Amino acid sequence: MLGTAFSILGLNKPPLLFLGEGALSHMVTGIPIDQWFKSTLRNMDFTEWTRKQEEIFAGGNFGVSTERVNKRPLHFFNLITGDTGVKKTDYILFLGCNDGGHMIEFMNMGYNKVYGCDLEGVINRAKPLKPRIAKNLFIVNLETTPLPRSHRWKLVVAKAIIEHLGTWAELPKKIAKVQSSGGLVWVCTNDGTKIPRPEARHFTHIPFDTLEHIFKDAGYSIVKHYDFEGPPHNGLMQFLTGRKE
Ligand SMILES: C[S@@+](CC[C@H](N)C(=O)[O-])C[C@H]1O[C@@H](n2cnc3c(N)ncnc32)[C@H](O)[C@@H]1O
Repeated sequence: MLGTAFSILGLNKPPLLFLGEGALSHMVTGIPIDQWFKSTLRNMDFTEWTRKQEEIFAGGNFGVSTERVNKRPLHFFNLITGDTGVKKTDYILFLGCNDGGHMIEFMNMGYNKVYGCDLEGVINRAKPLKPRIAKNLFIVNLETTPLPRSHRWKLVVAKAIIEHLGTWAELPKKIAKVQSSGGLVWVCTNDGTKIPRPEARHFTHIPFDTLEHIFKDAGYSIVKHYDFEGPPHNGLMQFLTGRKE
């Protein structure tokens, strides 16, 4: 069933968002993105969008854990943990963790307080596949559910997730609610300045400075904006680390 709000607007699917470049990139049709978001997307019903995401990802498709792609994300993980000084004893939360492949890679690097969350169908599939992390998996719908407050998350990892959310512009504030000052967040997403048109299963691609803007707005300062070239992402991804003030 399609979301009521979409039907009211005469849309048969969530409106895909195309953001411009440069100075306009955190403006949508001339108004700041925060205001635009509040007045348009905030009250929309993403039930059908989320159901489709769950169908795709609980089906085992597009699980992009390092195990199945290549070792490049490990290089990033080493860099961010090195740059930010995350300790082996710190609590880490992976958003949209899929089958938990990256969680296990972190555990293999010596971090053992590693948790993850994803949609119900995805988590139910992950648990028997990865018994080592089964008890550390939470069911969370990032469109509607608050993040777990069970621990003090020193690092929140949002790799290949924000572009899947209708409520993408609210994600930084949602993360900020479960982090105290000094908390770190690492985001990796498609670069909206290089590929503005989202592919089918992505809600949007966010330009570089819009990503910074929404994190700054949520109380984060930018520690580092990485810009890597080369496979598997061929420079099409952006990587940002922020620290909560
Ligand atoms: C491209 S996969 C990335 C998986 C993992 N983070 C990685 O980098 O290998 C996107 C993930 O976002 C999850 N996802 C999509 N919408 C979500 C939502 N509303 N709440 C929680 N997770 C969601 C999907 O189930 C999927 O596991």
